[in-house]
Amino acid sequence: MEKSTINAYLDQNKERVLNELLDLLRIPSVSADSAYNADVIKTAEAVKQRLIEAGADKVELCQTNGFPVVYGEKMIDPKKPTVVVYGHYDVQPADPLELWNSPPFEPVIKKTDIHPEGAIFARGACDDKGQMYMHIKAFELMMKTNTLPCNVKFMIEGEEEVGSPSLGPWIIKNKEKLKGDIILISDTSIIANDTPSIDTGLRGLAYMEVEVVGPNRDLHSGVYGGGVANPINILCKMIASCHDENNHITIPDFYADVMELSAEERAEMAKAPFDLNDFKKDLKVDDVHGEKGYTTIERTGIRPTLDVNGIWGGYTGEGAKTVLPGKASAKISMRLVPNQNSDKISSIFQKYFESIAPKSVKVTVKPHHGGEPYFLSSDNNGYKAASMAMQETYGKKPVPTRGGGSIPIVALFRQELGLDSILLGFGLDSDALHSPNEHYGLFNFYKGIETIPLFYKHYTQLSSK
Ligand code: BES
Ligand code: MN
Ligand code: MN
Repeated sequence: MEKSTINAYLDQNKERVLNELLDLLRIPSVSADSAYNADVIKTAEAVKQRLIEAGADKVELCQTNGFPVVYGEKMIDPKKPTVVVYGHYDVQPADPLELWNSPPFEPVIKKTDIHPEGAIFARGACDDKGQMYMHIKAFELMMKTNTLPCNVKFMIEGEEEVGSPSLGPWIIKNKEKLKGDIILISDTSIIANDTPSIDTGLRGLAYMEVEVVGPNRDLHSGVYGGGVANPINILCKMIASCHDENNHITIPDFYADVMELSAEERAEMAKAPFDLNDFKKDLKVDDVHGEKGYTTIERTGIRPTLDVNGIWGGYTGEGAKTVLPGKASAKISMRLVPNQNSDKISSIFQKYFESIAPKSVKVTVKPHHGGEPYFLSSDNNGYKAASMAMQETYGKKPVPTRGGGSIPIVALFRQELGLDSILLGFGLDSDALHSPNEHYGLFNFYKGIETIPLFYKHYTQLSSK
């Protein structure tokens, strides 16, 4: 497989490939909201159709307890390695709608400072329809140019954005079908379009919902105020007590299993290009915030966190209503790092939160989905192949980085299938994933399609050594 073959194919098919992605982005496959159930299924069917057209065999929608997994394969030689591609066709909810400059499911292409050649604006453009579709098109390219060097299996799911509840049980039942050598995923980011990078880690997640209940009803805040616990005041105090003045998390044993990096490893990490001023400018903040003793890159990559994702209770409508609310709630997530365990962290959080509640309120803590952290050494053949592929297409060796986000199923792939995952992502953190005006650069989209076949080439070569 030569770069010139790839580029010639891409040149001839650019428009069509882009239009196909735009069609996929028009289907609102929001997995979190049941109002979109039919659209999620419609998207699965569209992905299935595209896999068939690209040349995959045994393409099917595999039923699960939730949305189907789209499966397809091309087995050319049992002696050759098998790359298992994972991606997701579901997307995050688009709200708040009023902050979008164009409707989230009517993709448009616009130029930006970071994407002078244009970016596709739509929910899912980067996370993950655009990145997932690169794999189908790279596969099509290898099929049409007769250059597929190894076997390939596709597993595209529809519940990643809600914690992949059905995929775990499904892979456990389908271990034979999923036999392979490496998992390849494009669902993460690079540092910048002129600074390629590859994530060697992902954070895990423990997601909790807490409720603080005080009096049996909302009260007049004058008549009762001062004499009865205010659940919102109490909840805020409890949340505040989870961090100390150095922004360390105070929950006993929270850090017990955290893998500390050596001074050399930290020095290595610090070599990744990162400009704190650009970071602040992009977010329009005057200063950053985080755990004392760690850099911003470390805070988002190798350190665990505790963050409130939402908090509610009392009166939030127009004007002022004098009310002492009967209850208050919050959603709290903790991002985890190797070797923390999400069940263990959920349970120590629960114990701590219950223990700090005063007698004047009742507290309930309910764990939502979780996921384990992941790390892969850059010694791995898959990592090396990804690095060589990017080196060819970007003209620069990619920097190993730690991703701050989570793809919980990745740890399960290792545990249940014994397979490592290569995080060959092409998005940018500034592409507004999960935010209004999500977009994906055309440069990034085509660069992905160009790079993926080279991964297959290098991985096949390294595996036969
Ligand atoms: N693709 C993201 C994860 C990601 C983004 C990793 C950028 C690294 C860099 C994924 O779709 C996602 O949003 N995951 C959720 C997991 C959750 C829904 C269980 C997350 O990280 O919040
Ligand atoms: Mn994703
Ligand atoms: Mn996501």
